Amino acid sequence: MHKAIFSDVELSDDNETGAQFMALVEDLLENELVKQLGDFGQHVNTSRLQHSINVAYYTFLICRKLNWRVEEATRAALLHDLFHYNWEENKEEGWHPAVHPVKALENAQTICEITPLMADGIVKHMWPLTIKLPKYKESWAITMMDKYCATLEVMESVVMNIRYSKSLRYAIYLMAYLHFN
Ligand SMILES: [Fe+2]
Ligand SMILES: [Fe+2]
Repeated sequence: MHKAIFSDVELSDDNETGAQFMALVEDLLENELVKQLGDFGQHVNTSRLQHSINVAYYTFLICRKLNWRVEEATRAALLHDLFHYNWEENKEEGWHPAVHPVKALENAQTICEITPLMADGIVKHMWPLTIKLPKYKESWAITMMDKYCATLEVMESVVMNIRYSKSLRYAIYLMAYLHFN
């Protein structure tokens, strides 16, 4: 059972939003190339699969709300980081922010139909690190949700570290005590 970061909605047929989301991406989540993203880390403690689900879910919510092309946007968001290597070990291929969106698009094209909107959303999701502007409003949603989710993922790991680090927690208590007394 999947859930997006900081969301209580189960991505399943048990609820309306979950069912709508799954209807758009269920075939992709069952694909081996997508499943393999679970073997790679993305931001601190988040797997690349979880990051992809996070970006897809929040892109879905925004595009559904705004009546944009939600199916293409959600599917592109799920596939935007479809590459299978650790970027630190693959530097000879070139600059990671420029290389991995192209790799993700190549891989995505092997598993499902990719429309021009989807291709644009995948290949430009690293804007502004890559210079070409996203062409479609849905591509903008993907690149913004990528950054939003990356921020949430890093924040979550900081919160977890605080929760599991006694000394850090006591240091915060002490600072708060000294501050308010
Ligand atoms: Fe990326
Ligand atoms: Fe990403």
